[in-house]
Amino acid sequence: MNFNTDTKKCVKKGIVLAGGAGTRLYPSTISVSKQLLPVYDKPMIYYPISVLMLAGIKDILIISTPEDIDNFKKLLKDGSDLGVNFTYAIQPSPDGLAQAFIIGEDFISNEPVALILGDNIFYGQSFSKMLEEASQKVSSEGGATIFAYKVKDASRYGIVEFDKQNKVKCITEKPENPKSDYAVTGLYFYDGNVAEYAKTLKPSKRGELEITDLNNIYLKNSSLDVKIFGRGFSWLDTGTHASLMQAGQYIKTIEDNQGIKIACLEEIAYKMGYLTKDVIRQNISRYKNNDYYTYILNLLK
Ligand code: G1P
Repeated sequence: MNFNTDTKKCVKKGIVLAGGAGTRLYPSTISVSKQLLPVYDKPMIYYPISVLMLAGIKDILIISTPEDIDNFKKLLKDGSDLGVNFTYAIQPSPDGLAQAFIIGEDFISNEPVALILGDNIFYGQSFSKMLEEASQKVSSEGGATIFAYKVKDASRYGIVEFDKQNKVKCITEKPENPKSDYAVTGLYFYDGNVAEYAKTLKPSKRGELEITDLNNIYLKNSSLDVKIFGRGFSWLDTGTHASLMQAGQYIKTIEDNQGIKIACLEEIAYKMGYLTKDVIRQNISRYKNNDYYTYILNLLK
């Protein structure tokens, strides 16, 4: 992946929302943020950060809870080790995904922005190309691009309803009787109007500023593009102990079979040309002698 972020119009800013109480994972998440738990061989938040980096995004705002934000800072620092720029903001209470754009209003400063949820794992062929297309579309034409994926338990998600011509009719948050199996995943690209739109939202019945309501604003304006991830693509859940374990096993299986690592941030920084070999070699010296370290060292040979 090496599309040139300097010459083509593309989204340059991204937000990772890593808030929430993680109560479904208690007691594991009483003292540690869910998004810092390991998914096999790296912290969960590495996976969404890798997606933003693959989209060519270097300016990344991490939003988390007042209790957890310092641990994210400890892990990721200012991003210079990866050739990117991390800044941090607090979501005082879990008042909904769309609140990320109000919290991040200054960071966004009316420019296009991507949002990814800190517990979402995406993996599949041609993903970088899809990211590139979404990024270029939103930054050159405006509007929003979101992604849908066929799921078994549709009432757990925001669900895309299609009309007879297969055009998107509406998106419904956690419908009791879902009209389709296509869930909206936790990856979104928006134009520079997103903070203004987010400020017009009213809390839903569950008391949250819903990303689904935001998406429906773009849909009403005829500026919502819904891309489908096909059956060869993986979007993994990490919300329960069982699904967290399955996600870890999935990553391990692919990494073992292919001798690659998924979401190795140093590898992406190197391949995107953000850092030189020497700088990466220096930065990873603290991992010395583990498998993650050896993998990166071999890459640089
Ligand atoms: C949120 C969104 C939902 C989306 C899901 C993806 O759900 O509200 O529309 O499908 O993320 O993970 P929540 O995590 O708040 O239940």
